[in-house]
Amino acid sequence: MGIDVRRIDGSFAGEVLGADLEREADFAAVHRAFLDHGVIVARDRPLSPEAQIAFSARFGPLMGRRPSMSDKALMPGHPEITILSNRKRNGEAVGLADAGRYWHSDLCFEENPNLGTILHAVEVPPEGGDTLFADLALAYETLPDDVKRRIEGRRAAHTFAKHYRDVMAQGSKRTPLTPEQVAALKTTWHPIVRTHPETGRKALYVNPGHTTCVEGMNEVESTALLDLLYAHSVRPEHVYRHTWRVGDTVAWDNRRVMHNAQGYDMARYTRHMHRTCVHGDRPF
Ligand SMILES: [Fe+2]
Repeated sequence: MGIDVRRIDGSFAGEVLGADLEREADFAAVHRAFLDHGVIVARDRPLSPEAQIAFSARFGPLMGRRPSMSDKALMPGHPEITILSNRKRNGEAVGLADAGRYWHSDLCFEENPNLGTILHAVEVPPEGGDTLFADLALAYETLPDDVKRRIEGRRAAHTFAKHYRDVMAQGSKRTPLTPEQVAALKTTWHPIVRTHPETGRKALYVNPGHTTCVEGMNEVESTALLDLLYAHSVRPEHVYRHTWRVGDTVAWDNRRVMHNAQGYDMARYTRHMHRTCVHGDRPF
């Protein structure tokens, strides 16, 4: 059977049909779909941790522990996999229960942010827990020309510290970072418009979760510009909503999309996911 890629519900995301993620021979078509769509979905196929690591590593070197994340969320024996879960073992959380509930691009606050993220669904709630994706290449292309001119060549600052302080102040139950990890959370500058290193396409590279200000602007001007870019980015025609099923594997391109994990009733339901992250290069 050949590999087929179909747009999901008229959105930018693509469902990859007929591909075996464990087969190296299928990867070229999967990678092409990843570059063409920015978000790809393969359904109905459980993936072992070893298979997920092998598949993810075909995109590039994998990222292990980061200063912005507690080591307790890493899978024992497989530190390439972060567990996103509200499951508990002996009263202790086995993973991050409240990760990513805001618009962000993974690890954009690092010098060399994450190229892509692969998330595999092991257990999902019957309602809630969707993930939203916004296509920031489409968002850039549909900006008015005067806004494009205003952001041309400008950089913005990114840090994890802002979000971390916010979630802890809101009473998050996540394992706190160590003082050394908090000290390692620095500010990084990236272009507001980045060029995709593989497709050459331009995309916005700012997000409400981690971007703090625009270089060379006062706070009022900077906030107004970022708010305008965010409102445009999350217009319904730029957004794909993924409703998870067990056995789903979703791979997204952090150089092109931002995402937002939706909440669910954590007292009633369990959601258990395996995440792998691929090292990227410096945005330009
Ligand atoms: Fe994320």
